[in-house]
Amino acid sequence: MIFVVKNIYNKLAHFECAVLFFFLMLAAPVLRADITGSAHDFSARGWGTGNVCTVCHTPHNSNTTVRNSPLWNHTITVATFTPYSSTTLNATVGQPDGVSKLCLSCHDGTVAVDSFGGRVGSVISHGFGGTNLRHHHPVSFVYDSALAAEDGELHDPTTQVTALGGTIAHDLLVGGKLECSSCHDVHNTYNNRKLFKISDQRSALCLTCHDM
Ligand code: HEC
Ligand code: HEC
Ligand code: HEC
Ligand code: HEC
Repeated sequence: MIFVVKNIYNKLAHFECAVLFFFLMLAAPVLRADITGSAHDFSARGWGTGNVCTVCHTPHNSNTTVRNSPLWNHTITVATFTPYSSTTLNATVGQPDGVSKLCLSCHDGTVAVDSFGGRVGSVISHGFGGTNLRHHHPVSFVYDSALAAEDGELHDPTTQVTALGGTIAHDLLVGGKLECSSCHDVHNTYNNRKLFKISDQRSALCLTCHDM
């Protein structure tokens, strides 16, 4: 008898474990992910140092030529870019700077991915393609209440709340500017396709700012 009860108890315990596991699986998409194993984890490459961070960051002797760069270790692009332009654009878009320039230091195809910490590498990224930013969503420009009012089809970044819980300005802009990192999270924090900060399902990402 004792054995039977114990057996049922064990089965129940297994069942509870299974239920708990099931709910953990359901919760998984909202858990935070990280850079390990993402497109930006180069630690296992032959030229890597075994360290995930050093391709981009260093604790000492960092490159400070780009505004607000976080202890930067990667060689920075010196290319001249063709910025986005169109007849309907209200924003003033010039050369990429800030975070976007850091991204382009691998993604413009002029600097090798493995050029960091003073070494000159040879592995070129083709995932973005070139220095003509006319093909891409504009970056490195001020997105404020005045631009939203002028455009008429943009949410006010100081009041509109995003899926991340804060305002557009707080969650997606860097010092009031729209940058590559407004849409992508380089560290894969949110575990979305293409490193998106906000899922692009049903264009949720685009509709966070565009009021169409
Ligand atoms: C492929 C390049 C790349 C790699 C690899 C990388 N980072 Fe970053 N990191 C960036 C960029 C670009 C920024 C600035 C933009 C941003 O935060 O979105 C940044 C910002 C930061 C910041 C300051 C802002 C913040 O998000 O808190 C910290 C801290 C940081 N990284 C830590 C790390 C650590 C630790 C690792 C390794 C586990 C790492 N990074 C790997 C590119 C990288
Ligand atoms: C150290 C070089 C380096 C830096 C700096 C870097 N990337 Fe990348 N990134 C890569 C490489 C390499 C890949 C893999 C695909 C390829 O070759 O382009 C990649 C892939 C991606 C992808 C595709 C991810 C996927 O899962 O398909 C996105 C999006 C991206 N990067 C955005 C960014 C953004 C935004 C920044 C700046 C905040 C940035 N990257 C900075 C090297 C870099
Ligand atoms: C307004 C949002 C937005 C901004 C800003 C933005 N991207 Fe993207 N990016 C996207 C979307 C959406 C895709 C996915 C397109 C698709 O579905 O293939 C993408 C895809 C990518 C990819 C993957 C390309 C591939 O072939 O898989 C890379 C790399 C990338 N972006 C880098 C950048 C860099 C570098 C910047 C800044 C110069 C940037 N992005 C700015 C929205 C953005
Ligand atoms: C962080 C906010 C934000 C996100 C996210 C965003 N955009 Fe934008 N987008 C803007 C702003 C601001 C402009 C500049 C509008 C202007 O000045 O006319 C712009 C410009 C554009 C333009 C050019 C408009 C023109 O007149 O030439 C297009 C097209 C566009 N976005 C499409 C998209 C798409 C598609 C997505 C999703 C992949 C997206 N945007 C995501 C803020 C955003």
